[in-house]
Amino acid sequence: MLEITNLTYRSEGFELNATFRVERGERLALMGQSGAGKSTLISLIAGFLSPNAGEIWFDSTNLTQCDPSKRPISILFQDSNLFPHLTLRENLGLALSPRLALNAAMEAQISAALAQVGLRGFEGRRPASLSGGQQSRAAIARILLQNRPILLMDEPFAALDPALRREMAELICSLCRDLGLTLILASHDFTDAERMCDRVMLLSEGQITEDCPIAGLRAAPPAGLVPWL
Ligand SMILES: Nc1ncnc2c1ncn2[C@@H]1O[C@H](COP(=O)(O)OP(=O)(O)O)[C@@H](O)[C@H]1O
Ligand SMILES: [Mg+2]
Repeated sequence: MLEITNLTYRSEGFELNATFRVERGERLALMGQSGAGKSTLISLIAGFLSPNAGEIWFDSTNLTQCDPSKRPISILFQDSNLFPHLTLRENLGLALSPRLALNAAMEAQISAALAQVGLRGFEGRRPASLSGGQQSRAAIARILLQNRPILLMDEPFAALDPALRREMAELICSLCRDLGLTLILASHDFTDAERMCDRVMLLSEGQITEDCPIAGLRAAPPAGLVPWL
């Protein structure tokens, strides 16, 4: 469903090349050292960067020149990106109505999304009154409301403590499964990748050097992935 062909991006001595497919509901981890090109590839898929060559297709739609806001993609940033002066109802409501003209059906959708991430009854709270984990959950609820088939995440939980990190990974994984979302996660942490994904692609100096299922990988890893396990 997501098909990336001969995608090329060049910048100051760095070159990224990528050709791969991601099926609906697949959960792909992009791994690699700092500077390997993970964030660049995520930004190209999101449309924040334009490729020098190559194409990005979603089913029969060519996304290569498509505005980021019109792509079938939602993005979970490391910082949860909630507006501090708005309540969760309003923060989430922006995903449904940019002018916050919320009708009863939308209010019900917001409450249901909050309940789905374990924040039932938090509609009137502002971000500052929430813990870091609760803010991450609110950002995930907003993604549920955006209702796009592809979810991109770039090192999303790097700032969270290990217990919370695990909890968020499990929440993301179960939501992706339940909703049939396609996940592309950039990470340099194999444990995170293992918790959320079913496939791993290794990037090295802008090139894809491994692409394989995660299941069973620890028992018989391809040579390129050994340093990551
Ligand atoms: N804002 C930027 N301006 C110029 N070069 C950048 C910028 N961000 C990243 N790069 C370069 O692009 C290459 C890929 O980086 P990046 O995609 O951020 O890798 P990763 O996310 O795997 O750490 C690196 O050579 C990096 O130095
Ligand atoms: Mg990065």
